[in-house]
Amino acid sequence: MIYLDYAATTPVRPEVIHAMTESLTESWGNPSSNHLAGHAARKGMDRARRQVGELVGAPPESVIFTSGGTEADNLAIRGVARALSAKGRHLIISNIEHSAVRVTCKMLAEDGFETTEVPVGPNGVLDPQAVARAIRPDTILVSVMHVNNEIGTIQPIAEIAELAHARGVLVHTDAVQSVGKIPVSLEALGVDLLSLSAHKIYGPKGVGALIRRKGVPLFPILTGGGHERGFRAGTENVPGITGFGVAAELAMRELPARMRHDEELGTFLLESALAALPGSKLNGDPDLRWAGCVSLRMPGVDGADLLATLDAAGVAISAGSACKAFKQETSHVIAALNLPNEQDSGTLRLTVGAPTTRAEIQEAVSLIAKAVESLRGKVAR
Ligand SMILES: Cc1ncc(COP(=O)(O)O)c(C=O)c1O
Repeated sequence: MIYLDYAATTPVRPEVIHAMTESLTESWGNPSSNHLAGHAARKGMDRARRQVGELVGAPPESVIFTSGGTEADNLAIRGVARALSAKGRHLIISNIEHSAVRVTCKMLAEDGFETTEVPVGPNGVLDPQAVARAIRPDTILVSVMHVNNEIGTIQPIAEIAELAHARGVLVHTDAVQSVGKIPVSLEALGVDLLSLSAHKIYGPKGVGALIRRKGVPLFPILTGGGHERGFRAGTENVPGITGFGVAAELAMRELPARMRHDEELGTFLLESALAALPGSKLNGDPDLRWAGCVSLRMPGVDGADLLATLDAAGVAISAGSACKAFKQETSHVIAALNLPNEQDSGTLRLTVGAPTTRAEIQEAVSLIAKAVESLRGKVAR
C-alpha cells in the first residue's frame, strides 16, 4: 500500500509504543490514588503534561487532556458558551471549520446561540478584517482553525486574535492539523484556547488536549470527579496520555527536519501531479499552505469512483477529509472556495508524512493518472 493520507492519521512511532507499553504494564495505577502505584501513574502524566505544553510553548497547568481533537473543540466551544452565556450568545467561525467546530456551533442554536460563518476567499484563506467586521456586542468567542484539514491553508490566527481581543472577544484555534507540521505557539498566535490531537503527530488515537490560557472562563462538559483541575472529569487515559507526551516531544525535536521533508516532498508531489494529470488544479492558496497537503480538483471524474479505483490499486488517499470520504456530497470546504464548474470535478486530497518517499509519490501519481484516464474513458463511452 502507498499511504498518502497522513492528514487522516499517522502511524504510531515505536518510541510512543514503548512508552505506552511501559505505562500499561508497569505504571497501571490510578493517577488519583494516593499510594505508590498511583504516584507512578501520576508521574507519567505529569511528564506528558510538560511535554505537550512545551510543544506549544504553554505551561503544564494549561493542558487539559481530552479524548481527542473533537472533544477539545467541543470543550472550547461549549465550555466558553456556558461560561459566558450571560454576557452574550454570539459565536464566530470560518466557513471551512472541521465538523467538530461547525456541528457543535450548530447544536448550540438549540440553547439560543447564534453563529456567524465568515467566508474564506477563493484561496481558502480568511481576511482578518472580515472576522473583525462580524464581531457584535454579544460576541463571546471567535473560533478559527490554524491549518485546514482538507486544503492545508494556513489562517492568519495572530491577526485575528489581535483584532478580537481589541474588542474583548476570546479566541480559540483548532491546531490539530498544524502542530508538528509548522511552528505553533500559544504566545505567538495569541489565542486563549487551542485544540490538539495525538494521532495526527504519530501518537495514539483517542487522546488530545485543550490548551487553556490561565484565567480563561471555561465550564466543563464532562462532570464528575475533579480530574484535570475540574475541567474534564474521568479517570485519565494514562497510557494514551503518556504516548501523546512522547509524540509531542518527538514533534518538537524533529519539527525543522519534518518541515524540510514536507516542503521537498509536497512540492515534488504537486509538480508531478499537475504534470501527469491534465486539467488538474490545486485547491487553496499555493503559498499560505502546509506544503505537505495537496488538494487537487480534476474535471470530468467522480471523486468517489476515483478513490475506489485507487484503493483497489493500493493507493490510500482521501476525497476530502477522512470523515467525508464515504459521503457523496461536495465538502463544505471545497464548496466554500466557489470554484467554477466545481460540480463536475472530483477532488483528491494527498498528504505526505515522515515515512513518505519520492518513489512512492512517483508510483502513486502514475497510478492516479491511469485511474483518471480509465474513468474519463468510461464517461466518454
Ligand atoms: C482540523 C481537525 N480538527 C479536529 C479533528 C478531530 O480530531 P480527533 O480525530 O482527535 O477527534 C480533526 C481530525 O480529523 C481535524 O483534522
